[in-house]
Amino acid sequence: MDDNKIAEYGEKLKQLGIKNEVLKHPHLVKPIEVVTYLGQTLADSAATLLFIADGQPITLIRRDDVKISFSKVKKLLGIKDLRIASQEEFVKITGLPVGAARHYLPGVKQTIIDKKVFEKEYVLGGTGSFQHTIRLKSEDLKKLPNSSVTDIIEDDIAISQGLSGNKIKRVFSGIRATGRLHLGNYLGAVKGFLELEKTGQYETIYCVVDVHSITTPYKPEALRKNKREIIIDYLAAGLDPQKSLIIYQSDIPQHTELAFYFSTAETVARMQHLPTFKDKVKQYPHNVTMALLNYPILMAADILVYKTELVPVGIDQEPHLEVTREIARKMNQEYGMNFPEPIRFATKGSYVPSLSGEGKMSKTVEGSFINLTDSADVIRKKVRSVPTATTSGGEMNPGVKTLFAFADLFISSEVEKYKKDFENGTLQFVTLKDAIADAVYKELQPFQKKREEIIKDQAYIDKVIKEGAEKARSIASQTVAEVKEKMGLS
Ligand code: TYM
Repeated sequence: MDDNKIAEYGEKLKQLGIKNEVLKHPHLVKPIEVVTYLGQTLADSAATLLFIADGQPITLIRRDDVKISFSKVKKLLGIKDLRIASQEEFVKITGLPVGAARHYLPGVKQTIIDKKVFEKEYVLGGTGSFQHTIRLKSEDLKKLPNSSVTDIIEDDIAISQGLSGNKIKRVFSGIRATGRLHLGNYLGAVKGFLELEKTGQYETIYCVVDVHSITTPYKPEALRKNKREIIIDYLAAGLDPQKSLIIYQSDIPQHTELAFYFSTAETVARMQHLPTFKDKVKQYPHNVTMALLNYPILMAADILVYKTELVPVGIDQEPHLEVTREIARKMNQEYGMNFPEPIRFATKGSYVPSLSGEGKMSKTVEGSFINLTDSADVIRKKVRSVPTATTSGGEMNPGVKTLFAFADLFISSEVEKYKKDFENGTLQFVTLKDAIADAVYKELQPFQKKREEIIKDQAYIDKVIKEGAEKARSIASQTVAEVKEKMGLS
């Protein structure tokens, strides 16, 4: 579909009073690929589904992270028969390619919009093209002709229809055990872990990458303690061991074994040029070891040993994902493996800045982070320490920018008001800082409470780790056996 047709569609919506923005992207078919590319989540996108209700076409619009309840729709319409339109029917009625439905389909006489769509201020939707996505104000969807709003989805969030195809997709991610979890880890990674677990669409594997933790200077006793603390953090954040495998990397030796095989696919020069390697060399000039150089290779093995397709990580990990895709391609070409080329699953907090105003929040940089277990007082003190100017107005310095980044993440509905105050020179920084600190603490309180409960049951924690490892080993050993066979090692 050419750009003119997409522009025409945008115009048609405008005539209905629906302002919109057309976003261009590479050819992407699955909603998860589109939202990931655009740095959004499935909850930010609303699909139009064509159904046949007692012989008549109707469209249902629902968010991509939920499932339509057939019984609710049938009851609502007082009909006996409800089914998804066939591909032929879809093309005939809409004139669009299958899988590219628009919110506005003039050929259909009734549109029912699920009320959950309006929980988000903006939604993404189809345009009839796999290279374009439209973004509009959710409220404006109510202007679609012959539309009504009601609750038409299954009560518990479940697998969305037709999104994942038949194959179960895997999700893998990991966090190093170099200290306690901080807000950057939580917003950039753990929130994505939770979101993907909740969809029920994926086999999710979440790891404490303890072997990666020994690539920079460390103390064995501290590592032993920290790695368990992170498992507890995972559980306290709400990860459910019934739905996700929660594991230690070193419990599954196939990760390190595969990493060695993968190291044949990358050159030393390529690894030395990675920005992440250069940063660590600067940070630890006396620890430029082979382990450090191999870090991205081990990460590729972590991901590909489960044939993972989606990786929820912060934006700083993109260079490592590029290496992972490179290795997947090389192993596929050279040895006929079938590794997927995994992509990043982005959350809203893909880049959480350091409290110092310089660079990103990081557990190895003192004064840069807020820990998930920090008390209200500590959080307030830390947020107050962000270096802001004495008066507001004019250019924002890095500290002020950081503060507004936090405001965007934690008190988004009030950001505009604070920005205006800043521009007018009336903003009291301490007021904004305290509002942010209160919101951060409020978000962390349930986590802190749950953590206290979890640490009372150490046997439960042991069980989670043991069961996760057993299941993970059985998947990982199949991949390693396949690689050994294809590489001529067995
Ligand atoms: P690590 O331990 O440095 O970070 C863990 C996760 O937290 C994210 N993160 C941030 N996100 C937003 N803003 C920040 N300031 C911030 N700081 C950290 C990171 O992006 C990451 O998602 N190499 C990985 C660990 C790893 C891994 C893997 C991840 C090893 N193997 C396989 C995924 C898949 C790392 O450095 O984590």
